[in-house]
Amino acid sequence: MFEHLERLPPDPILGLSALCTQDSNPDKVDLTVGVYKDESGATPVFEAVRLAQQIVTEQEVTKVYIAQAGDAAFNTGLQQLLLGADNPALLEGRVSSVQTPGGCGGLRIGAELVKAASESASVWVSNPTWPNHIPLIGSVGLQIKEYRYYDPLTHGVDIAGMLEDLDRAAPGDVVLLHGCCHNPCGADLSQQQWQLIAALCAERDLLPFIDIAYQGLGDGLDEDAWGLRHMVATVPEVLIAASCSKNLGLYRERTGATVFVGKTADSAEILVSQGMKAARKIYSMPPAHGAILAGKILTDEHLGQVWRQELAQMCERINGFRGLLDEKLSAASGEDFSFIRREKGMFSFLGLSEAQVDRLREEFSVYMLGSSRINVAGVNHSNIDYLAESVAKVL
Ligand code: LMR
Repeated sequence: MFEHLERLPPDPILGLSALCTQDSNPDKVDLTVGVYKDESGATPVFEAVRLAQQIVTEQEVTKVYIAQAGDAAFNTGLQQLLLGADNPALLEGRVSSVQTPGGCGGLRIGAELVKAASESASVWVSNPTWPNHIPLIGSVGLQIKEYRYYDPLTHGVDIAGMLEDLDRAAPGDVVLLHGCCHNPCGADLSQQQWQLIAALCAERDLLPFIDIAYQGLGDGLDEDAWGLRHMVATVPEVLIAASCSKNLGLYRERTGATVFVGKTADSAEILVSQGMKAARKIYSMPPAHGAILAGKILTDEHLGQVWRQELAQMCERINGFRGLLDEKLSAASGEDFSFIRREKGMFSFLGLSEAQVDRLREEFSVYMLGSSRINVAGVNHSNIDYLAESVAKVL
């Protein structure tokens, strides 16, 4: 039966990371997958997660299925984290969510709801976007269209191009937006640009679908949710796919959600019923462990405080290395890398060609995506000079 199936090429992100793991060069630099790393190159378990885990281990008496919509504390805590506890939409009961396997599950369930509501809606994605957005959303059967986003000349957002492209979207189309820390380019919308996009969505009846996977790793938890909150205040219906992989370090626990902001409390309830049905036919129900830990942290004052502090330190480390990367790369190459300081979150494009990226990998064991996307969190004091000199050599 399966003889005619062909071997597929490795995943453009995960495959490269596996290749780097196999590289025996002691100087290798892994800037591939978007995971946080500390100065020693480790991806530690948050102290808040460790504490929550102790409580859960002591108290847990069953492994029976959790509710179909997921852990209640998690859903409430996450909604408050995203929207702010005093958000009018929350107080009016217009917000609901289903817990999903990671942010990917959140994206998929969101796409299923769009498809259930409208066979003909197109989903507009930024050029570039996270490569997995396209199969995750496209495999539901929705048509994908692109809007201009990143301008390699300015290393910033091409807002004129973005507005022009979205102006061609049909009423009822969906606009997929990165809530913060754009993956892969790190160039985020300014508050003024969010206002323009929100006004366009409201005026043209476009549904914003906000993928937020890095809240707290750009400027801070509330700062990074500014655009999302503005959108919720401006547009009657919003879909959100949220992930706790990065900001709670729960990567392998697959902890995320689809959050719906409906026009009424009734529609928020209807959307949960639709979300649960969509999940039932794909993976039945959500995993428990990560969401129970996140739910405890997000709803407990002490654990929440411990977590916020740890996350703020990570954010500070990344931003510190953004400055240092600019200094070292600019000094080694004589070119201008100051754009890295202006970008947010884990990623930046270095602006290298594929051939230069290949040379870096083959000759220097420096691994980044073919687009020259680097994970800034993979840089540390021990590898930054080698990285800067290697980049200068291929330029
Ligand atoms: C990334 O972009 O590197 C991360 O979101 C991990 C992934 O699944 O691709």
